[in-house]
Amino acid sequence: MAHFSFKTEPFYTTPYGAAYLGDALNYLRQMEPETVDLIVTSPPFALKRKKEYGNVEAEDYVPWFLDFALEFKRVLKESGSLVIDIGGTWVKGQPTRSLYHFELLIALCKTVGFHLAQEFYWYNPSKLPSPAEWVTVRRIRVKDAVDPIWWLSKTPFPKASNWRVLQPYSDSMKKLLERGYKPMRRPSGHDISEHFAKDNKGSIPPNLLILANTDSNSAYLRECRRRGIKPHPARFPHGLPEFFIKFLTDPGDLVLDPFAGSNVTGEVAERLGRRWLAFELVEEYLEASKFRFTDLRQQLPLFAEQAEQGTEDEALEERKLSRASQMALLESSESYEVTPERSGNQDRAL
Ligand SMILES: C[S@@+](CC[C@H](N)C(=O)[O-])C[C@H]1O[C@@H](n2cnc3c(N)ncnc32)[C@H](O)[C@@H]1O
Repeated sequence: MAHFSFKTEPFYTTPYGAAYLGDALNYLRQMEPETVDLIVTSPPFALKRKKEYGNVEAEDYVPWFLDFALEFKRVLKESGSLVIDIGGTWVKGQPTRSLYHFELLIALCKTVGFHLAQEFYWYNPSKLPSPAEWVTVRRIRVKDAVDPIWWLSKTPFPKASNWRVLQPYSDSMKKLLERGYKPMRRPSGHDISEHFAKDNKGSIPPNLLILANTDSNSAYLRECRRRGIKPHPARFPHGLPEFFIKFLTDPGDLVLDPFAGSNVTGEVAERLGRRWLAFELVEEYLEASKFRFTDLRQQLPLFAEQAEQGTEDEALEERKLSRASQMALLESSESYEVTPERSGNQDRAL
């Protein structure tokens, strides 16, 4: 378990991490500088209609976020990254887009001093069409189905390796590798050398992550249903934190999600053998997030099957380590129960 000296006891802990209830800013200010390898988070977005958890209006968003951003920069290691999933929004009463998330990006770089390592887009094919007025009633806009994800870093060269996030080759690439490739110049002018036909065990992914948020039978949802608890309304698909955790950290590194919600980030970090920290303002969300950790044994194969596919020694080593840490976890904890550590909180054991 990761050890931290906060004034408040953790809400719960696991072998690799700890979740804390309360304002992230308060916890961040208690943290030692340069201790975190990766912050991956989805803050409350600026929305036209307020969600159930205090979303800030677009006009006030940047000043609100900058207090957090200064702390993010302070607690990140020099090699660390900040990954922010931030949905766009619409200008009230108009079929036009707010610029707030672009303004935030500019402020994070120009005011706080982060570098934009790369922008990503999360395409969610299962997103519903909205706002109804412009998309389904008047039909003058199309459905908005991507979230921008800003990958920021403290230095221009954060720790990263795309060997750890290779994707399976397409059928045509597999055929090409089998048959061999004749070096030639493409119509675009690109010179394709014989290196193109080298089998790297997978293709380099693009900065478009296609992830449907259609999880309907996870331990978390099953347990929420069984207990009549409303699941968190804006959960990450597992693949989102999984991609960035694999891409930007090594086993044993520390991953922080300051706006943890249902703590998908913590769950993925745990399964990948990374230490993690989660902060969340709403007790109900954090309470339900414990369900993610009640039976790791049952959930392990999901990630074991999707082991990293890089060919470099480093990536191979990472796979072995990640697998080893998962197996060690299984062996060391028969039932793998979450430890309720908050004082006076013993009845929270699941
Ligand atoms: C978009 S949700 C995150 C969902 C999360 N990615 C998941 O997979 O469940 C944002 C979360 O930030 C929390 N939040 C808002 N302000 C906060 C603050 N100051 N400190 C900690 N959490 C906060 C909200 O309660 C909400 O659960």
